[in-house]
Amino acid sequence: MNIAQATPLGDDPTLFESLFELIANDIVEKGYSICPYALPENLTSLLLQHITHLPEGNFKRAGIGRAKDHVINDFIRTDEICWITGNSEAGGAWINWAGLLQNYLNKRLFLGLFSFESHFSHYAKGDFYKKHKDAFKGEDNRVLSVVVYLNPNWSAEDGGELIIYPPQAAQSSIIDNGKITVTPNFGTIVVFLSEEFPHEVLPALRDRYAIAGWFRLNTSIANNIDPPR
Ligand code: OGA
Ligand code: MN
Repeated sequence: MNIAQATPLGDDPTLFESLFELIANDIVEKGYSICPYALPENLTSLLLQHITHLPEGNFKRAGIGRAKDHVINDFIRTDEICWITGNSEAGGAWINWAGLLQNYLNKRLFLGLFSFESHFSHYAKGDFYKKHKDAFKGEDNRVLSVVVYLNPNWSAEDGGELIIYPPQAAQSSIIDNGKITVTPNFGTIVVFLSEEFPHEVLPALRDRYAIAGWFRLNTSIANNIDPPR
C-alpha cells in the first residue's frame, strides 16, 4: 500500500500531485481529462456511503439556469441533486480534495480559480440530462467542471454514460464528430473546460450516483461577494 492509499483524506497536497499533474497536462493539451478509478478509494467509498444514506428529502429535482432564471425542465434533465456542504465528514473530505486540485491548477496553469460549488446527483432508472454546456461565454463564470462517479460495478447494460462532444470549431473537421463516451464507474474523474464542451448523460438503467462540481472565477462587484449559486 502506498502513502496515498493509506491517508487519502489527509491535507498533504503532495499526495495527489501525480494525478493533479496528469489533469493539468490534459487540460492544456485537450481541454479535458478523463481519469478512470482515480479518486482515492476511501474518499470514494465515504462519499458513496454518505450519498446512499442521505434522506430522500435532501434531494431536489434539478433545474436549469441560475437564481431567478432557475426552472425545472423535464425535457432537459430529470435527475435529483443535493448541494454539498462541509457539514458532513464526506462533504468536508470532498471539498478539501477539490481545494487541493484548485490550488494545484492555479499554481500550474494560472487559472485564477476562486471558488468551488458542487452537488451530489442521483439518476434513478430512466433519468437523463440532455446535451448542454455548464457555462456560456460572458454569461457565467464557471471555468472548469469536475465530475466524479460513485458507482461500483457499472456495466455496459446500465447505460448512463456521459457523452462529451468536441468544441464547435473542432466538430466540422472530424468525421465521426469525435464523441467521447465515459462510463460512470466508481472513482472515475472527469474534468473539462465548462464553456468549451457540450455534454449529455444518457438514460441510466439503474441508480446512478455522481458528484458534479464547478470551479469559478471571482465576479464580486465592490464588496458584494458573488454567491456561488
Ligand atoms: C451536470 C453534468 C454529468 C454526469 O451535472 O452538469 O453534466 O455525468 N453531469 O453526471
Ligand atoms: Mn453538465
